[in-house]
Amino acid sequence: MVEEKTLVAENNQQQGVAVWLTGLSGAGKTTISIPLCEKLEAMGYRVQRMDGDVVRQKLTRDLGFSKEDRDKNIERVTFVAERLVKHGVITVCAFISPYRAERQYARSEIGRFVEIFVKCPIEVCEERDVKGLYAKARAGEIKNFTGIDDPYEEPENAEMTLDTSTTTLEEEVDSIIAYLQGNGYIM
Ligand code: ADX
Repeated sequence: MVEEKTLVAENNQQQGVAVWLTGLSGAGKTTISIPLCEKLEAMGYRVQRMDGDVVRQKLTRDLGFSKEDRDKNIERVTFVAERLVKHGVITVCAFISPYRAERQYARSEIGRFVEIFVKCPIEVCEERDVKGLYAKARAGEIKNFTGIDDPYEEPENAEMTLDTSTTTLEEEVDSIIAYLQGNGYIM
């Protein structure tokens, strides 16, 4: 019984934070978020990953890519992330989240919020074209594609910027961990 109580107390020491990865499709948000979460879990933290491609199949599958729908997408994600963070979970969010105002909304709702600009020249994203979506967007088969015929507003006050065209994945993950440690979010 005492042991259980100690465990609960220990767990409650963890404070939540949202690590918000923003950037173009193909910039590397998901690629960074997976090993980042694995590393945090290995360090003993409770972590939840929220990713645009997954969330859009479940929580927001009724939404498209108009400004209104993207805003709704981020607002619903923010609603969930705020509660997770409140309950001490490190919540790693990977969304294009192209609009500054919506990222600001997420920041103000969630409070403990680390915005990371996953920066990558669109030419590089397009060359990678992991999902083949840039080719489709260029061919006009997909409309409102971020960076092609839809805006991406670069962050002006991000806590970190990672240029995935010049740094390695390992360096990126390590620098996020170092930032979280350096700023008292994790031990
Ligand atoms: S956001 O703009 O609302 O933040 P989110 O990150 O959830 O976007 O989803 C982006 C993902 O949806 C992309 O990685 C891509 O796989 C897919 N996608 C499909 N259509 C589009 C589009 N028109 N613009 C951007 N991404 C799209």
